[in-house]
Amino acid sequence: MDELSPAPPVPQLVTQAYALARQVGFPLTRQEAEQGDHGARPGLASPSASLPGVGRFLAVLAAGCHGGRIGEIGTGVGIGTAWMAGAMPADCTLVTVEIDARRAAAAAQLLASDRRIRVLKGDARELLPPCGPFDLLFADGGWRDPAGLSALVDLLRIGGRLVMDDVTPQLAGGSGGSSPRAGTAGGSGGSSPRASTAGGSGPSGPGVSPGSAVSPRASTASADAPPQDDVKRALFFGDPRLFSTEVVLPDLRNSLLVGTRIS
Ligand SMILES: C[S@@+](CC[C@H](N)C(=O)[O-])C[C@H]1O[C@@H](n2cnc3c(N)ncnc32)[C@H](O)[C@@H]1O
Repeated sequence: MDELSPAPPVPQLVTQAYALARQVGFPLTRQEAEQGDHGARPGLASPSASLPGVGRFLAVLAAGCHGGRIGEIGTGVGIGTAWMAGAMPADCTLVTVEIDARRAAAAAQLLASDRRIRVLKGDARELLPPCGPFDLLFADGGWRDPAGLSALVDLLRIGGRLVMDDVTPQLAGGSGGSSPRAGTAGGSGGSSPRASTAGGSGPSGPGVSPGSAVSPRASTASADAPPQDDVKRALFFGDPRLFSTEVVLPDLRNSLLVGTRIS
């Protein structure tokens, strides 16, 4: 956002969700998450709320789910859910699962008046599959192994979309080329017959294919950038049932992965 642009409006429910996050001590940013003990699982960063850019993108996808079902893994206190709830059509339903009892209870209260939405407390691996198949699945609960991703794709209807965030963009055109991530995604993504097609033609822009050499411009140790991690990218571009693309957020420090199930 430049200084001439007015701040885009935030839906009231989202504002309420932010207030709730403050109330229950759920971190709004990665920096906040790193400063406290917020229930990180072994090997994973502490959880934090979805960024506004992620919420706005989810809202756009949710708006297209006419008569559809949306799933979310990892409700937190309902910030991403609130973004989607404000945009999804009246005939669309949403189920979101949160394993942390306090967060689940807070989100359930926030969203109680919307009959299209169910907040379930427990492990999404058990609770979500019977609720599918989904037109849109926001997987925000930290699954990042191949078997886990494959199980998520199983939950999509054909044409349905899987979304994950917390990905560090690989932006072309910066100075240098010494990113430790260079070539990592290409090794995995390149093994998929779809990887070059998806990366080459996707909306992430020229030169931003999953296997392209990268510049460290976007990954220069900014505190609000996700950890450098190509696992999700490799999984998305390596799954032959997904046609995947990467969407770089306007802050240039965070990306989303979007995979559409094609078979
Ligand atoms: C990044 S936060 C979610 C943020 C939220 N989606 C938002 O938009 O603000 C990840 C959440 O996933 C939850 N979680 C982790 N593993 C889970 C699982 N197996 N099932 C359900 N929730 C899980 C964590 O407790 C945490 O609250």
